[in-house]
Order: sequence, then C-alpha cells, then structure tokens
Amino acid sequence: MEILVTGGAGFIGSNFVHYLIANTDAHVTVLDALTYAGNQKSLASIAPERLAFVHGNICDVDLVNTLVEASDAVVHFAAESHNDNSLANPRPFIDTNLVGTYTLLEAVRRSGVRYHHISTDEVYGDLELDDPQRFTETTPYNPSSPYSATKAGSDLLVRAWVRSFGVRATISNCSNNYGPYQHIEKFIPRQITNVICGLRPKLYGSGQNVRDWIHATDHSSAVWQILQNGRIGETYLIGADGEMSNRAVLSLILTLMGQPADAFDHVSDRPGHDMRYAIDSRHLRTQLGWAPSFSDFQSGLAATIEWYRDNEDWWRSAKQATEAFYAARGQ
Ligand code: NAD
Ligand code: TYD
Repeated sequence: MEILVTGGAGFIGSNFVHYLIANTDAHVTVLDALTYAGNQKSLASIAPERLAFVHGNICDVDLVNTLVEASDAVVHFAAESHNDNSLANPRPFIDTNLVGTYTLLEAVRRSGVRYHHISTDEVYGDLELDDPQRFTETTPYNPSSPYSATKAGSDLLVRAWVRSFGVRATISNCSNNYGPYQHIEKFIPRQITNVICGLRPKLYGSGQNVRDWIHATDHSSAVWQILQNGRIGETYLIGADGEMSNRAVLSLILTLMGQPADAFDHVSDRPGHDMRYAIDSRHLRTQLGWAPSFSDFQSGLAATIEWYRDNEDWWRSAKQATEAFYAARGQ
C-alpha cells in the first residue's frame, strides 16, 4: 500500500509515519513544505526503501495531483497548527488549512483515492469546567480562534466533498497530543525546554484551563484503524480520557524534572482562551474496537521529558526565536 502523508515532518505526522513503518508494510510518501514547524530530522531514522520525502506545498495543484494519483490513500496532517500564531497572523492559516485542504479534496475527487482528514476537537469551541458533557460527533461547531475556525472550515469542506462529489473520506477530531517531535512553541515542550535552559516555565492566566491529553502514538493507532475500517463520510472523535488542568500538568513537569512545583511565572492570558476541551470517544471505541495504549500520563510525560533531554540538537536552534515571539506578546 502506498500512503501519502501530508505534514509528515511535523509533530503528529512524523509520529504517524513512525507508527506506519513499525506496524504495517506500507510505503510512505511525505509531502511537507518544511515551514518553521517541519523538521526532516524527525524522519531521519527511517530506511529510504520505506519512505520518500517530497519538499512541497499542499496548495501546489500539479504536485498534489501527481502525488495523489500515485497513492492508494492520503492522510492529511499538514496545517498551520498553533493558536498563538493564528492570533498574531491568521493569513497562513487561511492558505494552508482552507486552500490546502481544498486542493487535496479536488485531487482525490479527480482520482477516487481514499482520503483521511486530520482535525481537532477545537472546532467545537470550549466547555465550562463543571459541564458534565464532553464533545461528541454531534456537538455543534463553535470555533474560537483563527486556527480552530480554519480547521472547522476544512472539516466542512470535506463533508461537502463527500456529499456532493462522492469523495471517499473520513474525518477525525482529536484532543491535545503530547510525545516526541513536538515543536517547542507548544505548552508541554515549551515548559520542558525552559527548565532544561534554566528559564522559568510560563503559565497563561490562572492555569485552570483543562486540556484532554493523548499520546501521539495513540492518535496514530486510531487514525490507522479509521483508515482501514472507518465508514466513508463518518466523523470519529479520538481521545484517551486524559483531562488535566494546565496548572496540574506544569506541576507534574516541574516535579518530574526535580524543580519546586511553584517554580514558574504567571504570564498574560491568551485572548479568547478556550477553558476546557473534553472528548467522549465511545463512538470510535465501540464501532472500531480502538483503545489507547498509553494509559499512564505520568510515565508518558516522563518519557517525553527524557526525549527532549536526549535530543537537544533537534530543538535547540528554535528556542531563541520561539521565546522572542512569546516575550513580545507578554507571554
Ligand atoms: P505541526 O505544526 O507540528 O506540523 C505541521 C506540518 O505541516 C509541518 O511539518 C509543516 O512543515 C507542514 N506544513 C505546514 N504548511 C504546509 C503546506 N502549506 N504544505 C505542506 N506542508 C505544510 O502540527 P501538528 O501538531 O503535528 O498537527 C498536525 C495535524 O493534527 C494538524 O492538522 C492539526 O490541526 C491536527 N491536530 C493537532 C493536535 C495537537 O495537539 N497538536 C491535536 C488535534 C489535531
Ligand atoms: P497549546 O499547546 O498551545 O495547545 P492548544 O492551544 O491547542 O490547547 O496550549 C495548551 C494549553 O496551555 C492552552 O490552554 C494554553 C496553555 N499554555 C500556557 O499556559 N503556557 C504556554 O507557554 C503555552 C504555549 C500554552
């Protein structure tokens, strides 16, 4: 099987490629523009017989058509993925998340190739801390940020291409991922690398905000399951019952790294900051028999900390610019 993975040099895309190489016989082609968030080192350990890397943009119609036609399936991870960047400059989010997805959909419409669309639970907006409900496949869309609005728009394009043109697509909306190869702009690796660099971790606002954490390997196993056995046109929510406040995650990172649990700074809150995300993944579990394998967040987090300690050459060159971006925003 030939699988085209867009955004395969990014965080979750590269974890998914490693998952495919370890667990299937598939040959993988990665299409990635290598933006600030892409890193080819994340794929360096994979044998060239199993992986082809194409440096290019998902908005490039001819390139996308050629690569899609040569594939049995497309898994679309490529995106502008960071909320704070979308608040500073939404434009690349419109181009990549909306026009890029449109370009891929037109290519799979022409060729009839199976397509899986990677999305986020942030399309549903947020929940109150005490709301007994969690997000399900029928929760109305209500995105808060330019990032989540463009992801919501891309999901709706996929649904329309399924219904209007018979495209063979599935969609998954996953909660917050953690694990190796995540860009250090994101919450968990930013705090880990701050501690390694002797900088104080930075918590937005009160830190009461809750995220529902899942290991990127569990996200990958769910996507592979959906690609093989998912029903065309169906949406699947992916989550591992990992709700935790930012403050609690940060305390755990500090403790695991041998620091006092209060050795961090409160910084300016994110404008429009979503309070809580929480996924009810029973549909995926009952329909496709999927279950996560990283059930212990603390040991997954400890392994992630070790990974950043052991792979300083992977992230060190991005640290100064990342912190300069945040410092200019009071974060
Ligand atoms: P990331 O920012 O780490 O990686 C994105 C990758 O896409 C990079 O390699 C980048 O170079 C590439 N890319 C960006 N624009 C491109 C373009 N125009 N053409 C080709 N390649 C381009 O993102 P991530 O955190 O790995 O997220 C991957 C996907 O998963 C996204 O669709 C995101 O919305 C979704 N998602 C992320 C999370 C999370 O916790 N990070 C949770 C749920 C869903
Ligand atoms: P992030 O990793 O950006 O993911 P998302 O916005 O998709 O949830 O942020 C996770 C949470 O951590 C979010 O509530 C914002 C918060 N946060 C901080 O408190 N400090 C930080 O330095 C960053 C980057 C995020």
